[in-house]
Amino acid sequence: MRVIFLLLFLVALCASNAIDRNNEPEQDWWQKTIFYQIYPRSFADSDGDGIGDLNGITSKLEYIKEIGVGAIWLSPMFQSPMYDFGYDISDFYAVHDEYGTMEDFEALTAKAEELGIKVVLDLVPNHSSNESEWFQKALQGDEKYYNYYIWEDGVIDEDGNMQPPNNWLSHFHDSAWEYKEEVGKYYLHQFVVGQPDLNYRNPDVVEEMNNVIRFWIEKGVAGFRVDAVNCLFEVDKKLWGGKYPDEPLSGAYEVALNDHSSLNHIYTKDQNETYYVVYDWRDILDEYKAKDGLTRIMMTEVYASIQNVIKYYGEGDREGAQIPFNFDLITDVDGSSSANDIKRAIDNFLTYKPVDKDANWVIGNHDNNRMASRYHPELVDGLNMIILLLPGVGVTYMGEELGLVDGYVSWEDTVDPAGCNPNDPINYENWSRDPERTPFQWSAEKNAGFSTADKTWLPVAEGYETLNVEVQRAAERSHLKVYQALAALRQDPVFRYGRYESLALNQDVLAFRRWYDNEIYIVVVNTKDSEYVLDLTYLENVEKDLVVVLRSIESPKNEGDRFEANAVPIAGYEALVLRKK
Ligand code: GLC
Ligand code: MG
Repeated sequence: MRVIFLLLFLVALCASNAIDRNNEPEQDWWQKTIFYQIYPRSFADSDGDGIGDLNGITSKLEYIKEIGVGAIWLSPMFQSPMYDFGYDISDFYAVHDEYGTMEDFEALTAKAEELGIKVVLDLVPNHSSNESEWFQKALQGDEKYYNYYIWEDGVIDEDGNMQPPNNWLSHFHDSAWEYKEEVGKYYLHQFVVGQPDLNYRNPDVVEEMNNVIRFWIEKGVAGFRVDAVNCLFEVDKKLWGGKYPDEPLSGAYEVALNDHSSLNHIYTKDQNETYYVVYDWRDILDEYKAKDGLTRIMMTEVYASIQNVIKYYGEGDREGAQIPFNFDLITDVDGSSSANDIKRAIDNFLTYKPVDKDANWVIGNHDNNRMASRYHPELVDGLNMIILLLPGVGVTYMGEELGLVDGYVSWEDTVDPAGCNPNDPINYENWSRDPERTPFQWSAEKNAGFSTADKTWLPVAEGYETLNVEVQRAAERSHLKVYQALAALRQDPVFRYGRYESLALNQDVLAFRRWYDNEIYIVVVNTKDSEYVLDLTYLENVEKDLVVVLRSIESPKNEGDRFEANAVPIAGYEALVLRKK
């Protein structure tokens, strides 16, 4: 009798466990995968012109699969004169000729689909190229297209010279206004002169961009990363007596007056109208989902206060982006930060995001120095553990799986307008984004296996002979292999559904715990070069034996090693994934 009761009890226990797990909401494709950003110009060059291209990407899709990534986001591959390397689009409906043809794009998506990889494109709604048909027609006096842009009269100064309408500045130095003789007015460009801002108070522009979205979805893409979306609207000048008001000084220390950060962008960024355009885009994406069942995703690129960033998730019954990029690990902390600072940067997004939405973790992109350079090259595994084992979507900039570092690009070789425009051969590295855009490092061959050309569009970074895919594939331990193991590990329910708690154990060591059912994992990252013996029992429910599941490549430990939770030694820059026995 007793035995039967015991059995019944055990059956009930198992059943309740099973119910717990089954109660988890079914996760959608984008919630389970890693997003991998490809900068097409720098990934792989198939035709030997020194410039990456679509066929290059297609030829490397197996590699994407091999590292455990299920979705790629391509930086712009649309027709462009390349004043801002593709973010200045002259034809939103065409492939840039240096990158290939529409057929090449179709081959890319077909191959990706075969391999189970989703393709996400960059949507650049804020501006077109000045060489686009739209802008050219505007200059020729075509009213429809004139109204696509933002025009304003100049002001005559005391000396009788024409000056820009107000003090607004471009992100890339100097006035955000450019005079056009043919029109007799200035047009607004928040980025380079070749990127005239589109006018989102004009319903034709809104409709045009909706059509761009539809066009590429119908070509088979699974969503968009939306560029510079908080710049979409400027203040409504009707409310300001028909003139755009000056922006106030930011008071930023030691910043030139023509530098974008010298102003507080209260009239050119984060305007309320923006969010509703984003929610409307989501409705378009959802129309396609209603037709074929596939969720199309939106990732919004916004550097703003956390309160503004989370508005992109939606409001009330309006849905917005599934992935409003969380840039805190780029903007708030780096190699000089304490473990407490890093903990706070992580907890910040988790604190503010709506409870029923997914967090996301971004630590690098084509606009910021590489993760390994901003933190420390030895911290690569620890950083990838953070990005891939925290609750939410992981985003990887190409090369972070290898720990690529910034390349050196001389003033002569610098091409990024952010680096060139200030025309400052001494300090250009403060602004240039070329170092994080140097060619991908595939092997020890010529140009790191990126291209057979004699000259690549940016120089290949030094050290590629030993820092490349081929070497890391062959090595017994490498960042690449840790990354692959992490990509597999994050499929475990504990990382998909589990809860999260974090602690700074001292000024250098960050630890976090993920738990689900009876499983507990602890990730420990020593962000500096000092050794410690850690007491991990400060984390709730952590005691007795812990087993090493994964460790950084320089770690003196081995997988399977056991440690008493109250005395775990950790070496400088060591990072560990531990499991409670
Ligand atoms: C975004 C892009 C950046 C580009 C800018 C203008 O910030 O990431 O590369 O220069 O928008 O489109
Ligand atoms: Mg090429």
